Amino acid sequence: MINKCLFPVAGYGTRFLPATKAQPKEMLPVLTKPLIQYGVEEAAEAGMTNISFVTGRNKRAIEDHFDITYELEDQIRGTSREERLETIRGLIKDCTYAYTRQVQMRGLGDAILTGSTIIGHDPFGVILADDLCVGEEGIMSQMLKVYEKYNCSVVAVEEVPPEDVNKYGIISGQQLDERHTRVETMVEKPDPDQAPSNLAIIGRYILTPDIFDILRETPPGAGGEVQITDALQTQANMGAVIAYRFRGRRFDCGSIDGFVEATNFFYDRMKQEENR
Ligand code: G1P
Repeated sequence: MINKCLFPVAGYGTRFLPATKAQPKEMLPVLTKPLIQYGVEEAAEAGMTNISFVTGRNKRAIEDHFDITYELEDQIRGTSREERLETIRGLIKDCTYAYTRQVQMRGLGDAILTGSTIIGHDPFGVILADDLCVGEEGIMSQMLKVYEKYNCSVVAVEEVPPEDVNKYGIISGQQLDERHTRVETMVEKPDPDQAPSNLAIIGRYILTPDIFDILRETPPGAGGEVQITDALQTQANMGAVIAYRFRGRRFDCGSIDGFVEATNFFYDRMKQEENR
């Protein structure tokens, strides 16, 4: 059983300036829900109700979102508007929330290491809220089953166009079946002509806690930052990383194109449900 999930949310979101000048990018809404809520819902669905955030300056809105807003709630109590708070109220009741700050932006690996004081010695999920995922079964739930079978770290992957490999961590290895690969090589943001494949890691991980000691020893890599991909390579060298091709769809909400696609997808889905 894994019940902890870590959300690195310290990044600036410069691609969405000026929208993200004074609010966290994770609070940008797809329809009426902020991105971060989709991520926390996915974690909760997988039974990961112990939620930790690695935050930074200007991220207070996230803490306020996962808390009661007395004045507002008082105002709308007993009206039809109250039901709009149903999903977030459920999450506030069902999950616990902990926060710690990454003081300097030293990369995703460093952000995850910052979370070690909250996570301790248990395996845990990691969700990058920028990657909004939908599937009949949540992606994290699917990954949990992979973890239970293989008992090692798990990364979710999907094929990307070869010219896009330099935006991702790219993996290759021994394919076990249609959906599972035992990872041998992982490279963070390779040049297209040096990429070992076009299988890209998306923002979902299950990590075993030895990753923290490995991260402490991992020097800065691509972009001068400590990369989780490099730390995972150390685990992969021991045969301890499985890449999982998930069932479902992922939207890159860190880009404007992906964000608009996600919005259109959820809008169409909402309309279909209304017409049912
Ligand atoms: C991070 C990871 C990368 C992964 C990507 C998924 O990169 O470093 O390996 O493929 O998330 O979204 P970032 O998007 O933070 O540059």
